[in-house]
Amino acid sequence: MRMNDLIVKKRDGGALTGQEIRWMIDGYTKGDIPDYQMSAMAMAIYFAGMDMDETYQLTMAMLDSGERIDLSGIDGVKADKHSTGGVGDKTSMLLCPMVAACGVKMAKLSGRGLGHTGGTIDKLESFPGFSVEMTEEAFIRQVNQVGFAIAGQTADICPADKKLYALRDVTGTVPSLPLIVSSILCKKLAVGADVIVLDVKCGSGAFMQTEKAAFDLAGALVEVGRRAGKKVVAVVTDMDEPLGSTVGNAIEAHEALAVLRGEYRGELMDLCLALGTQILRESGVAPDDETARDMLEKAVSSGAALEKFAAFVKAQGGDNAAVYDKSLLPLAPVRRDVLADAGGYVKHIQAEDVGLVSMRLGGGRAAKGDTIDLGVGVALYKKVGDPVEAGQRLATVFARTDEAAEEAVGMLRACYEIVPEKVERAPYVKGVVK
Ligand code: URA
Repeated sequence: MRMNDLIVKKRDGGALTGQEIRWMIDGYTKGDIPDYQMSAMAMAIYFAGMDMDETYQLTMAMLDSGERIDLSGIDGVKADKHSTGGVGDKTSMLLCPMVAACGVKMAKLSGRGLGHTGGTIDKLESFPGFSVEMTEEAFIRQVNQVGFAIAGQTADICPADKKLYALRDVTGTVPSLPLIVSSILCKKLAVGADVIVLDVKCGSGAFMQTEKAAFDLAGALVEVGRRAGKKVVAVVTDMDEPLGSTVGNAIEAHEALAVLRGEYRGELMDLCLALGTQILRESGVAPDDETARDMLEKAVSSGAALEKFAAFVKAQGGDNAAVYDKSLLPLAPVRRDVLADAGGYVKHIQAEDVGLVSMRLGGGRAAKGDTIDLGVGVALYKKVGDPVEAGQRLATVFARTDEAAEEAVGMLRACYEIVPEKVERAPYVKGVVK
């Protein structure tokens, strides 16, 4: 086989066979196929697409490029959750303890943030001493004892995806449906949970900017997952504004704790209920959606989910006193409010740009390996649909220096679109594909 022939076949709209895809992924992982040929192939796939068979074959070839985690030592049904990426997304910090408190085990690998999107691991590292480095044995033990664990991604899982994703990132080929489906699912299949729930984001802050594109992605993820023998459910949710009321690291941990304490709900709770309902029902722990929602609500109101979270932080080496005393999760000292120039209603908050504000403050990475400041970030008091008066506070910036704060205030104000007419907020959860 020659890579050049495969590139030409795909460029001209042909379908690659399973054998061709496997040969290509093996060769690329080993370094026999150079980046320039794989870049051309990624671009050909971007334009010509792939059918469901090809997408499935690509997923399985990338899965087989590395090791799998053996979860058979975990008792009961194991669930996993993944989001296609958003701004202010602290869902895993809430969903895992809520679901674990209802009796379903969550075995989750997470990543660090890059660019405008934050990573769950960075947010969790706000708890002093918290670590995601653990052996597979320790991971399994913790899931059995505590109900859930969140570990860092290891290099041994899907090395083909690691290489290909880095290439896509610099060749304009990230937003390709078959490439996204195979990239997400190969990693989920390598972890091997029984039930996989995917949060597919839709809107200006997401890869998929339209509902059609998001539902197409959701449908393909569910179908490829089914072919791979897994129960996959995709929930399509809004990312037209940041999720919840905070963007940063420690500040997002504050918000997650406030929801777990039952002090506040917002769309964050809606999302956790939507995702958690699918997990409990598909795991067989709840007979229907209504029972599942009740169980999840009770896990929060009884304090059981908060206790699970505290046990999890402690099990991973963190100081869980910070779970009960938020002053132990310090925020940056320079605070500046963003005030509304005019009255009206919030029509839109540019999610990606809010993520960039947090990054500029030092809360995100421009390049892999950058050190980040866990205490900086933003709090958003007004969200889409809210009425605003001229001069009223829209948001607060938490910065290290006056200069950084001033710059962030200007950038954040520009993220808000305020219009005179009333704005109806669209439902946060747009649909479920299963
Ligand atoms: N997340 C991934 O892991 N891969 C993609 O291609 C897109 C989102």
